[in-house]
Parts: sequence; structure tokens; C-alpha cells
Amino acid sequence: MRTQVGIIGAGPAGLTLSHLLHLQGIDSVVLESRTQEYVEQRVRAGVLEQGTVDLLKESGVGARLEREGLIHEGIELRFNRAGHRINFAELTGGKSITIYAQHEVLKDLTAARRAAGGQLYYQAEAVSLHDADTPQPKINFRHPGGKTEILECDFIAGCDGFHGICRDAIPSQALRIHERVYPFGWLGILAEVAPSAEELIYTYHERGFALLSMRSPQISRLYLQCDPEEDIANWSDDRIWTELRTRFATRDDWSLADGPIVQKGITPMRSFVAEPMRHGNLFLLGDAAHIVPPTGAKGLNLAIADVRVLTRALIDFYKHKKRDRLDRYSDTCLRRVWKVQRFSWWMTSMLHCFPNEDTFAHNLHLAELDYVTSSRAASQSLAENYVGLPMEEDEAKR
Ligand code: FAD
Ligand code: PHB
Repeated sequence: MRTQVGIIGAGPAGLTLSHLLHLQGIDSVVLESRTQEYVEQRVRAGVLEQGTVDLLKESGVGARLEREGLIHEGIELRFNRAGHRINFAELTGGKSITIYAQHEVLKDLTAARRAAGGQLYYQAEAVSLHDADTPQPKINFRHPGGKTEILECDFIAGCDGFHGICRDAIPSQALRIHERVYPFGWLGILAEVAPSAEELIYTYHERGFALLSMRSPQISRLYLQCDPEEDIANWSDDRIWTELRTRFATRDDWSLADGPIVQKGITPMRSFVAEPMRHGNLFLLGDAAHIVPPTGAKGLNLAIADVRVLTRALIDFYKHKKRDRLDRYSDTCLRRVWKVQRFSWWMTSMLHCFPNEDTFAHNLHLAELDYVTSSRAASQSLAENYVGLPMEEDEAKR
């Protein structure tokens, strides 16, 4: 089998890349180890930056997002028994974020690829990469029955997430890893109950962080900080609601409505960057190259920013025979990656309790939150990062 761009992984990075390349007349094949049903039901991110929404709409996959997505023009930061709204629209010149589940984005992209006759192979696991640093890279992949096949291509797009094989295909002496593992995780639930607030609430409490989010006017998504080694079996539905109520009950005029919990799980938290994001004709995108803690809601959005950069570079290569954007790919992406790492680390540090914190540390959290919510300059800095930093010239166009 042969194509121009061999894409490993049908997550947000892989499917968006395949879709945008198709619009430019560039062929790709997507290999995904899981089933389509699994990928389209996996509960993950839910916050789309303005730039991500614009890209999905402009590329023709935004109709359902436009109908069903919930536009939010602010968030609440809650601490010390009071809520403080950060007004994104006012602080960023009218920008907003949209709540629309990651797996809904994937359904829309898959439908568009299928309608266009795109080559998407599920239960097709990439097992090894070959000749990535030559003009004829190859992907060896396994069909569901176990038979293996070679996909030959001009470029390999490693969109296979944090646990994929692409990053490991780069020789270790060529790769630098920057990493921070946090001493806490998030216990996340999906519950069949109308969200108790119209906008997201990020709460700092001495028992730990809690977040109220949502997926629709009928479905709430809530998280609470927990030990990363915690066994979910120790958390009955009752215990989860009691703990959430304690952490959110910092305001007397507000109560948290509960309902049936339909999904729950614990996610560890880390910051991670692999550098460079390219080796020869192998390019890493999204979680394959970097992980952010979810406090800034950036994981999916950063993956889409990488896609934008690579698409533009590939257009230059195929339409104008120019390689300079491909050569700059890693540097261009990493500028944004590090700014987003900084923001996600900062939000995480401000809002979570670290083990063995004393009263000095606790008061620093409160002072920082007080400053962020009372200084226009500080609120504006949070707002412009949260809605998504503007694209640099090199990232800007598809
Ligand atoms: P992925 O979505 O991970 O897609 C990679 C794909 O590659 C997968 O479908 C995988 O099955 C496939 N694959 C892997 N290896 C192979 C192989 N060898 N061959 C073929 N296919 C392969 N972000 C937020 O902003 N908010 C959140 O609440 C949030 N929650 C998260 C919860 C979890 C459990 C995880 C893991 C991530 C979460 N994220 C969250 C991060 C966000 O979902 C990711 O940043 C985003 O999915 C990145 O997209 P991606 O396409 O780079 O990778
Ligand atoms: C979510 O809705 O899943 C969500 C929202 C905001 C975050 C992280 C996750 O910061």
C-alpha cells in the first residue's frame, strides 16, 4: 500500500490532519489500533478554543458543533467562600470557548473522511517504522486477523498519543525529554444531571481542587483532585458527591445538584515535552510529543495547533516544492507548546494542594487567586491564554 502521508492514530490530531490534507488534494491513510466504536466513546477533553472552533467550521466539519456546542464567555474561580468571574469576552475583545466533547469532534471528522472516501483503517496497529530518515519511510502495521502489511509514504505523521510507538522510533540520542509528574491526579465523573452553573467553576479548597464542567444542558462533568495511586473502587458515588459538595460549598448561595454517575475514572497528571518533534520525515503531533495537565484545558487544542503547522508545511512541499516550513516544523510548534506548558503548569500550581503544604503555602494560593481576580492585567493574562493565544505567522494559515 502507498500514500503521500501515513498517519498513525485516529485521535483529534490524526483525523484533523487527514481531513485538512484531503481538502488540499493531499492523500493520506490513517491507521488506528482501536475500533471506531472505542475511539468515538472515549471520554476525554471538552473545551475548544476559539481558534480550534474556527478551524473546524472553516473546514466544513462544524455544523453539529455550531448547533450543539455551548459557547462560554467566562469562567468562575472560586476560593475563600466566594466566586469571581473572569470575563473572557470583555478581556479578550470578544473571544470565547466552546464546550463540545472531544469524541463528538471525532465523530464529525470520521463522518467527513468517510463521506469523502478517505482511507481510515481501524484495528490496524502500527508495529514498527522503517527508514523514517529517508525519502521512503515505511510503516509496518497489523490487520485485525494478525496479517501484517507495509504502508509506504513520503511522510509519517505520528499522531499516536502518549503511549504510541512513533516517539520511541526517534533514536534516544536525538531526543530530549522534559518532564514533570504531579503528586496528584483527577477523579472525573460524567453524571446525568443538569450542570449546577452556566459556566465552568474552578475551585481551590484546602481539601484539594475541584472543577465543575459539562457536556450538555443535561450532562455534568466534574473532577476532584485525588491521590494519583487512588483506587477508584474506594470512591462510591455517595463519597464522590459528598467530597464535591464540601469543596464547592465555599458559597452560601449555591448548591451542587447530584444525579446518576454514568462514568468515572482517575487520570494522572504530568507535563511532558519531547524535543525535537521531527526526525527526518517522521513528524510528531499532539500527545505523541507533549502532554499538559488538564487544568488549562489545552491538550486537544495544542494537538490541533500542531496539525495546522504541519498542514501548511505539507502544502508548501507538495504545491511549491518548498521544504523550509517542514524544516522549521519542530521549532514553530515548540514555541507554542512551551507557552501552553507554562500556562497549564501555572493554573495547576495555583489551584491544587501539594502534599504537606503548610499555612504559608496555603496563603500564597489564596493571594495568587486574589491577585488574578482583582488585577485587570492578571485576569487578562489568564483570559488570553485560556481562550487560546493567537497563532504566530508561521502557524496561521492552513
Ligand atoms: P490521542 O487522542 O491519544 O489519539 C492517539 C490515537 O492513536 C489513539 O486513538 C490510539 O488508540 C492510537 N494509537 C496509539 N498507538 C497506536 C499504534 N501503534 N497504531 C495505531 N494507532 C495507535 N485534555 C483536556 O484538555 N481535558 C481533559 O479533560 C482531558 N482528559 C483526558 C483524559 C485522558 C484519560 C487522557 C489520556 C487525555 C485527556 N486529555 C484531556 C488530553 C486530550 O484528550 C489529548 O490531549 C488529545 O486526545 C490529544 O489528541 P491526539 O490526537 O494527540 O492523541
Ligand atoms: C472538561 O470538561 O472535561 C474539562 C474542562 C476544563 C478543564 C479540563 C477538562 O480544564
